[in-house]
Amino acid sequence: LYSLDNAFNINDVKEWISKVQRLLSESYNEIIKEIILVAELKIDGNAIALKYENGILKNAATRGDGREGEDITNNIKRIKSIPLKLRLKQQPKWLEVRGEAFISNKSFEIINKYRKLNNEQLFANPRNACAGSLRQLDPKVVAKRNLDFFAYQVYFPDDYDIENNYIDHWDRLEFLKNCGFKINEYSSLIHNEFELDDYCNLWQNKRQQIDFDTDGVVIKVNNIKDQDILGFTQKAPRWAIALKYPAEEVSTKIQSLDFQVGRSGNVTPVANFDPVQLAGTTVSRATLHNIDRFENLDIHEFDTIVVRKAGEIIPEIVRVIKELRIKQSNKFNFPIYCPACGKKLFRNESEAATKCINQVCPAIQKGLLNHWVSKSAMNIDGIGMKIIEQMFEAKLIKTIDDLYSLNIEKLKSIERMGEKSINNLLLAIETSKKKSWNKKLYALGIDHIGEVTAKNISLEFKNIESLRDASLSKENNLSEINGIGLEIIDSLNNWFLNNDNLNLIKNLQSKGFEFVDKDIKKLKNKEINDNFHEKQFVITGTLGTFTRNSLIEKIEEEGGIVKNSLNKKTNYLIAGEKPGSKLNKAKELNINILKEEDLLKLLNLK
Ligand code: IVH
Repeated sequence: LYSLDNAFNINDVKEWISKVQRLLSESYNEIIKEIILVAELKIDGNAIALKYENGILKNAATRGDGREGEDITNNIKRIKSIPLKLRLKQQPKWLEVRGEAFISNKSFEIINKYRKLNNEQLFANPRNACAGSLRQLDPKVVAKRNLDFFAYQVYFPDDYDIENNYIDHWDRLEFLKNCGFKINEYSSLIHNEFELDDYCNLWQNKRQQIDFDTDGVVIKVNNIKDQDILGFTQKAPRWAIALKYPAEEVSTKIQSLDFQVGRSGNVTPVANFDPVQLAGTTVSRATLHNIDRFENLDIHEFDTIVVRKAGEIIPEIVRVIKELRIKQSNKFNFPIYCPACGKKLFRNESEAATKCINQVCPAIQKGLLNHWVSKSAMNIDGIGMKIIEQMFEAKLIKTIDDLYSLNIEKLKSIERMGEKSINNLLLAIETSKKKSWNKKLYALGIDHIGEVTAKNISLEFKNIESLRDASLSKENNLSEINGIGLEIIDSLNNWFLNNDNLNLIKNLQSKGFEFVDKDIKKLKNKEINDNFHEKQFVITGTLGTFTRNSLIEKIEEEGGIVKNSLNKKTNYLIAGEKPGSKLNKAKELNINILKEEDLLKLLNLK
């Protein structure tokens, strides 16, 4: 699923129209002036793709990273505005519908009201409530949450369209309606700039009066043939643009400033202010990004500031209202020494960054550890920043490798850590040694190496030694790897030049932590675990040792496949506490049932 390019004012949209005119004129070899457009509301929900085969809903997926999303078929079937069967006389062989799932403001209020009554954490806004619901394991919950769906795009086989003649987007919306989908009724055909201005102006204000959130207007080229000619860029269609509404701004009073040292040593000023409501959530902290931004803002004690949410997500300070400044108030100054370790900070002019370059600075190490244990890295459940702070305080840990020297005795000294959580934690730490090579590389927290880059590198370099040698050699083939530019090459080079980092690798390896592509290792040592390799698993009930996600990951790492529902091909049902109806079904189908203990044995963890 593609994204949309953004326009921030009507002139950006008009420039886009000129570009569309130019591209189409070039293609048709004649001057194309009048282009019919369709304007729609941009629904602030979650993009969904639905696949129908011979008119029957087969599967549904979330947007995910654009290429790969989550399978949410069972949940989607509980949304009343999504037909399970298309209302068509002649069904196409296949049909794909895209649209936005969302929760109305009214339903959102009711959901949160009941969550409050049950002492559950409230959802920040309808979009989060919708995303959380789509990910629910129990489809009945989705039904209760009253999710809704607007369809905005449809694809079908070329030969299906011959008689129907759905040559325009506008007709296709009508077609979707006839199929049984809900279409947003506020869409409009646009024939000229006046109509465009009217539509955009109208909705900028009127959006407050409707019962769902919209964060802008989407303008699309109406003719599908023209759409095909215009095509797509890497990220978005050239035939559509989103006009985003200006971010909501509010004023508040500054309380204090923190200077946070991140895992890369960068010092970021963060302002604390009197709490305010902004785009559906309460905010009381905002980043000032870097020293340049900090100096430009020129913040004094007790200042009144204007805050907004960048991209509706990250709060930031827009400006200081100087007219309201109290006389003789002191200006906040950027520190010269690291607030965490006291060493002198280093100013990197090219990156507008101020850095602590002391690799053993506790703030850097804490940040690195927090990244190491995070979900997308080593996924060590049970450790967050709070426990990391406590472990530092108790001097149990100074660097990442110290995690692998922890034991029951040491952890007992930490407040509020019972025996059970200690055991779970130690098991999670031990299990992390078996994570894939690309996750381990990502977990190291090397500057600019995100999840995707780590994966791409791991496909080319099968262990850390070969990556180190390449990073330190002048003639390497790193730049041939997808998405790797000079910045990343430089970052890898710096990282491997630092002795502290080389020591970290050595220490981790001495504790049994390997930085090797497991598939290669498996082949070498014939370590394929036959209990898991290509076997199908279904999980029911709650487990003590694993969260559901960590168990799925574990099984997949061992070569198994996790499915949502049982069938004859299922090899094992893993039954935790309070198993659901799946347990009986597994018995009926004569499927092997594994209790948690049996599972740990199969995983060689017991
Ligand atoms: S058309 C090829 N129409 O906005 C992409 N998108 O910022 C075509 N969205 O991921 C998308 N309302 O989920 C389209 N009326 C609308 C929309 C809409 C909301 C979302 C969509 C997309 C996101 C991009």
